Amino acid sequence: MSAHGTVQPMTARRCGPLRGRAEVPGDKSISHRALIFGAMAVGETRITGLLEGQDVLDTARAMRAFGAEVTRHGEGAWSVHGVGVGGFSEPADVIDCGNSGTGVRLIMGCMATTAMTATFTGDASLRKRPMGRVTDPLALFGAQAYGRAGGRLPMTVVGAADPVPVRYATPVASAQVKSAILLAGLNAPGQTVVIEREPTRDHSERMLRGFGAELSVEKTAEGHVITLTGRPELRPQSVAVPRDPSSAAFPVCAALIVEGSDILVPGVSQNLTRNGLYLTLVEMGGQIDFLNPREEGGEPVADLRVRFSGEMVGIEVPPERAPSMIDEYPVLSVVAACATGRTVMRGVRELRVKESDRIDAMARGLEACGVRVEEDEDTLIVHGMGAGGVPGGATCRTHLDHRIAMSFLVLGLAAKAPVSVDDASPIATSFPVFAPLMAGLGADLSQV
Ligand code: S3P
Repeated sequence: MSAHGTVQPMTARRCGPLRGRAEVPGDKSISHRALIFGAMAVGETRITGLLEGQDVLDTARAMRAFGAEVTRHGEGAWSVHGVGVGGFSEPADVIDCGNSGTGVRLIMGCMATTAMTATFTGDASLRKRPMGRVTDPLALFGAQAYGRAGGRLPMTVVGAADPVPVRYATPVASAQVKSAILLAGLNAPGQTVVIEREPTRDHSERMLRGFGAELSVEKTAEGHVITLTGRPELRPQSVAVPRDPSSAAFPVCAALIVEGSDILVPGVSQNLTRNGLYLTLVEMGGQIDFLNPREEGGEPVADLRVRFSGEMVGIEVPPERAPSMIDEYPVLSVVAACATGRTVMRGVRELRVKESDRIDAMARGLEACGVRVEEDEDTLIVHGMGAGGVPGGATCRTHLDHRIAMSFLVLGLAAKAPVSVDDASPIATSFPVFAPLMAGLGADLSQV
């Protein structure tokens, strides 16, 4: 058994052109936040387009445990009857956040400034991930955390009965850390300030403003200075969740490397804090047209027409771009393997503390498929073998990591010999319809 049910090996085989429309599900980051902010507002928040992946369902369950009423009305249509800032009740049992770092870190933030105790755990992947990056700043508000060695889950957080506001410069570029501090700051008096040197995804800032909080962002020599005024009354909202650019990355990259492909991926976010992969693919020579630019659910989006691009070339990805494409390096390294020349990804050490050590997972799997890679603590370099040139013919380990599983399945669609993954079940955390959606485009995926 994997942490997500039965272990599910899967194989991808080289296939004919991918054609058609790929309607990817709702954005995972925005879905978590819609449930959490909805739970902290007074009254009923309505959500459409919610991602019904396991990560988000675990957050919905957690919000119920803290006293919010969370109801599913139909596919992607949910409501949250919130209890207000500071209105959470103490959960009666351990909060299991499954595979989700975003879920656990944001929820720790939103209970840390209320006088209550909660214990958090997760699956084998989440229990390996560092929580100190969140509990250190939460301690400044007055919260205490007791976990396993190295700040690992299971962990008990004792919320501050008398929280003080915090000014904190994040030592790592992390939207999860930033968001946890802002969520804690909601129930602290006065102004909480987060300073980030490099901007990370800004969904929390956008949504907090939408829910009626007073929040300002200033660009200074120190970086982005985000100031939140505590103890607002959050007003319930209607949230239309846009499609997830991190999920769109998989059909997009597949179409770029599978000969003859021509697909349309509608409604992909062009938010500057999320679009680094798309800039990179275009710089590599990927044929992507950005059609019909518009706003959806408060986010800039476009429809992407993506065509097979046999002449892609490796590039040096600018390290300062990393926060805007942090989840996309695994699938970028697959495209890099199918391009010519070297693709150099520096400044990517954060990949080592994701759902798996993604530098190691990609390096080992690509090597097993006959691709030359180089790595160090902070770098991944992939030596491309040209369109159709990757030998494949291996089974890659996914380490409970949805994006590693999807990346190697994408590679298998263009490699000479089939590529298998040992366990595709984690895909359900973020992209439950991945296999049928890809099959609908013409991909050859089969459960072993
Ligand atoms: C997320 C932030 C990123 C990203 C994760 C989702 C978020 O993590 O990898 O999948 O929703 O805030 P970090 O903030 O740790 O980089």
